[in-house]
Amino acid sequence: MYQMKDDIKEVLFTEKQLRDKEKEIGEKISKDYRGKDLMLVGILKGSVPFMADLLKEINIPCTMDFMAVSSYGKSTKTSGVVRILKDLDFEIEGKDVLIVEDIIDSGVTLAYLLDCLKGRKPSSIQIACLLDKPDRRKKVLNVKYRGFVVPDYFLVGYGLDYSEKYRNLPYIGVLKEDVYK
Ligand code: IMP
Ligand code: MG
Repeated sequence: MYQMKDDIKEVLFTEKQLRDKEKEIGEKISKDYRGKDLMLVGILKGSVPFMADLLKEINIPCTMDFMAVSSYGKSTKTSGVVRILKDLDFEIEGKDVLIVEDIIDSGVTLAYLLDCLKGRKPSSIQIACLLDKPDRRKKVLNVKYRGFVVPDYFLVGYGLDYSEKYRNLPYIGVLKEDVYK
């Protein structure tokens, strides 16, 4: 019987490794944002598992909102075109915004989002990403919280998808090439 894991070449980060990293990042955020008006902004849909687990490691009051932007479609390479599909529900003026993202690749998506959100006058705006894939970076980004630096493989699981699938794997793995070739 077919199982999702048959399509995975290698597990890069186990559930335990993800949990440990989230504890570490959550502690830092709790310290850095004490006394501030922290608002976590998750980028749908990839950030959902990371957001859900990171949130529980933050022990100071915070609010949460989500945005959706267009991404890769069915290909594994970025199109360079960013579109807002769902905007925030709340205003961010005066808030200390922390964008929560699954992975930064070219940086095009986040560079665009940062520009757009900065115009709404938040008190501060920073990035927390679980994975950073610097090899194909096109836009310089200042990432305040970074989980792991990863090589230029196509990764799936824990929110990351290929053609909307594999988001529900509890770990992060490398997709076998014959799945997308
Ligand atoms: P960027 O604009 O190139 O930085 O693209 C960032 C977005 O591309 C992420 O939020 C992911 O949705 C997607 N992405 C980048 N690399 C991967 C990958 O290895 N697997 C799955 N999605 C990826
Ligand atoms: Mg994404």
